[in-house]
Amino acid sequence: MDIPVEGFSKWTKAEKLDWIAQQLAPDSTNSKKLLESYWHTDPKVQRLHEEFIENTLSNFYFPFAVAPNFLIDGKLHTLPMAIEESSVVAAASKAAKFWLDRGGFKTWVLGTEKVGQVHFFFHGDTKKLEGFFKLLKPQLLERVSTLTASMEKRGGGITDIRLRDMGHALKGYHQLHCTFETLDAMGANFINSCLEAFAQCLREKALAHEAFTEEEKNLEVVMGILSNYVPDCLVRAQVSCPVRDLAQHGMSGEEFARKFSQAVRMAQVEPYRAVTHNKGIMNGVDAVVVATGNDFRAVEAGVHAYASRNGAYTSLSHVKTENGLFTFWLDLPLALGTVGGLTALHPMAKLALEILQRPSAPELMRIVAVAGLAQNFAALRSLVTTGIQKGHMKMHLLNILNQLGADEGEKQKLLEHFKKNRVTHASVKEGLELLRAGS
Ligand code: MEV
Repeated sequence: MDIPVEGFSKWTKAEKLDWIAQQLAPDSTNSKKLLESYWHTDPKVQRLHEEFIENTLSNFYFPFAVAPNFLIDGKLHTLPMAIEESSVVAAASKAAKFWLDRGGFKTWVLGTEKVGQVHFFFHGDTKKLEGFFKLLKPQLLERVSTLTASMEKRGGGITDIRLRDMGHALKGYHQLHCTFETLDAMGANFINSCLEAFAQCLREKALAHEAFTEEEKNLEVVMGILSNYVPDCLVRAQVSCPVRDLAQHGMSGEEFARKFSQAVRMAQVEPYRAVTHNKGIMNGVDAVVVATGNDFRAVEAGVHAYASRNGAYTSLSHVKTENGLFTFWLDLPLALGTVGGLTALHPMAKLALEILQRPSAPELMRIVAVAGLAQNFAALRSLVTTGIQKGHMKMHLLNILNQLGADEGEKQKLLEHFKKNRVTHASVKEGLELLRAGS
């Protein structure tokens, strides 16, 4: 039974492990051993991982894989992917190979603007607030000049601060809507530090603003925080080839293009399908985002908000066939970093960036968008030809065999057997039983 504990974070790791073993998982006699078995063999590396968060007991493995043959803007890339879903890397590799022979992927960075806001309530004279803001703006910039100096030296910094009246949505609600160029950093810490300084400056200067009434002087600052909605930090990835080059699985190029386009259009008009369609895109996006030590929750939140920017949730990808040319593309808002944060700390994230030839943040945006487009292409291609289960279950076969406790010899024999036979949980179970009965 779970019971309240006092000062848990101050306990030693050994005490926490004992507590888990005794109080929470007493039935699994080896819970402590299991947690310890996932420690890194080098205590220094283990310590590094433990210090990422609080109350670390062990590590939680995800497979780290690579998908080669991604031709992006004329340059070959091998994509690092951290993901547990059986068929994702295989699908990415297949899509990469398919487009390698058809001109590869093209990308465009359409913007790199990050956003942060200071949220406050002001119930007074809006005209006076506008006048106050004109005076305030240079003072806000001055207030953060030490924070922004090094970013500005490299060509980044604060690009604008605007006063937004949100009174139509919530009485008295206003914002300082701030935009940033954070170059190769995702910039969360930089942005939040600036915003908290802005919030403080806003409070102080309002109090001292003579034209304000007492109530206006005491405008209420609620918070300063970055936004994970970054519709102007946007990248486009695209593939294109003559329709005739799409012939496959006994389908003509025309038939494939038609079915594929229908699948995309369904996701454009129907949220149940759009969510799953976009989830397929995020299979590729998240795998590279996680492998490179970026914040996948931020990316997920921003991408799905973008998918509903016109009031209805819709497909992130688009397709057209014109004059015999098939074009498939998507636009994704991606706030990513290739310096700072976990990218500088996690040894595997560092390696992932090295595998990608140390990209800048905009380059990583291109690569991640391509991973999403490739994944979407692979999923739709399977869905409109063989169905998804054939490939998925083939990749899932080893998981089923592992679940059933097959040994290495049995695995090899059954992998061979299922090259020609349909994989289902029942058929694998039966295959293993027959094999065991025969031996
Ligand atoms: C599975 O992880 C993703 C798919 O469902 C995506 C899709 O349906 O487009 C295959």
